[in-house]
Amino acid sequence: MAPSRHTPMCLLVYLCFGLFGMFVRAEEVTYNWEVNYMSGAPDCMEKEDIIGINGQFPGPTINARAGDNVVVYLTNKLHDDGVVIHWHGIRQLKTPWADGTAAISQCPIKIGETFKYNFTVEKAGTYFYHGHLGMQRSAGLYGMLIVDVEEGKKEPFHYDGEFSLLLSDWWHTSIKDQEHDLNAVPMNWIGEAQSLLLNGKGQYNCTLAVPANSKGANGLPGCKFTGNEQCAPNILDVEPGKTYRLRVASTTALAALNVAIESHNMMMVEADGNYLQPFWVKDFDIYSGESYSVIFRTHTRSSNNYWISVGIRGRDPTKTARGLAMLHYKSTKVSKRPMHHPPTTHRWNDYAYSKSFSNKIFALTGSPTPPVNYDHRIFLLNTQNYFEGQTKWAINNVSLMLTDTPYLGSIRYGLTGSFDQNSPPLTYPDTYDITKPPPNPNCTVSSAVYTLEFGKTYDVILQNADMLKAGDGEIHPWHLHGHDFWVLGYGEGKFSKKDEKNLNLENPPLRNTAVVFPGGWTALRFMTDNPGVWAFHCHIEPHLHMGMGVIFAEGVHLVRKIPDEALSCGDTGKMLMSQNHN
Ligand code: C2O
Ligand code: CU
Repeated sequence: MAPSRHTPMCLLVYLCFGLFGMFVRAEEVTYNWEVNYMSGAPDCMEKEDIIGINGQFPGPTINARAGDNVVVYLTNKLHDDGVVIHWHGIRQLKTPWADGTAAISQCPIKIGETFKYNFTVEKAGTYFYHGHLGMQRSAGLYGMLIVDVEEGKKEPFHYDGEFSLLLSDWWHTSIKDQEHDLNAVPMNWIGEAQSLLLNGKGQYNCTLAVPANSKGANGLPGCKFTGNEQCAPNILDVEPGKTYRLRVASTTALAALNVAIESHNMMMVEADGNYLQPFWVKDFDIYSGESYSVIFRTHTRSSNNYWISVGIRGRDPTKTARGLAMLHYKSTKVSKRPMHHPPTTHRWNDYAYSKSFSNKIFALTGSPTPPVNYDHRIFLLNTQNYFEGQTKWAINNVSLMLTDTPYLGSIRYGLTGSFDQNSPPLTYPDTYDITKPPPNPNCTVSSAVYTLEFGKTYDVILQNADMLKAGDGEIHPWHLHGHDFWVLGYGEGKFSKKDEKNLNLENPPLRNTAVVFPGGWTALRFMTDNPGVWAFHCHIEPHLHMGMGVIFAEGVHLVRKIPDEALSCGDTGKMLMSQNHN
């Protein structure tokens, strides 16, 4: 097309955009939150030290529109610990200090103090938030964060109503005891969860799967509810012949999950705040750190109610009963039990089944595609090791240990004494055999940082390997802060040259979390376009606690003035004090 014909078109676009901007103004959504310990019985068993927000567990849902500013005044009312909240999936462009990662983006908020989180939610989607200090997420510090499209804009799919389910797993042991057990020599593993929670509700000592006066297959009696119990199931009220959007996010500490709705197929449309090329499923897997939206249509007529069932995959599920909710047709009494048993979850260790689902996920046509070439490629080998007798997870034989000073501040102000200045390894030895336990069971422990070149395209190849016990491998869902990445592919064995040509550069999905399967690799690509310091880690809470993560720093010199309140600890705290005295 001749350049002269471009001009009027562009003018028109700018004009429309300008007018549009006059009507659609970003808003500020403000929340005042107090984080407190509370007691409750989310799975019908009383627990003392749940971490809640304003006396609520799970925390309140944040509702905003794309482009809005979210402001959360967070007051720490815990009597014995600091606190921070991470806004999982929000990129924090221009506000890296609001990422809510203790020792990375900010200091823990001190007891009795308030911190102002102020950030923009640029992209519509299903997100959540959670604690990011020690294992506070496992203690219940989490909630949903839902971002709708800008006013006047439409999603690429239609629905009449929507629901959300935040999935978690639940232990009766306190996180203090869990942390202590994980640090012990030898380690005392925390074991499988006592229950699964859907929006903070589960059943530990009874099962919904059978009527109240009988016994379930697992020997549990049927649940009896009057309806006011905290652990009474979630009921999703639907009308016949309508289309619904179900938003599902997983903040589990450990479990990989599978979600099914009895007798209703689901169309996958969104993942981690990015649109998918829609596809239909009977059930879907979800790993910790991931979120999905599915669309389902209700039957045109129904005199029944149906189960929504959440079961464990990737780990032995025999100790943890499935989580259940009910899809209630308004044409039917709510007290009417679903006719059939809840859908069963596919065999937990059939990884081929999990992979076939992951391999069906593509970006919606027209989504941003990755650069064809990468500038840098980092290989990250995941191994289980020991350090001074403690069990650790290591990346290229280095297990992450955070320091007292937030990296964002120490790097911004050149405080080189605050963390290990060596560069961590960009790869692992060629000769490493991933089908065997590590030849050297010991790893090192370090606070070192990967300094990434700003404005470049990076590939990360996550490589899984045998654990300390031969023949054993686990699923690790890796989550990147400050970015979405393209998932270029998954593969078996050790990543090699021949895998290169199979990478998907055409329509890879954008995600913020991607799983690496036992004995396999996962290839990711992203651009270093967001100045800040970003954690990249396994989203399994005990694994992160045992060092399964790395720190990426990019363009930190471009970061604007970091609020003092984010830096009032460790070496940055000392620096601020001495400045104030001059
Ligand atoms: Cu949702 Cu660093 O995690
Ligand atoms: Cu892991």
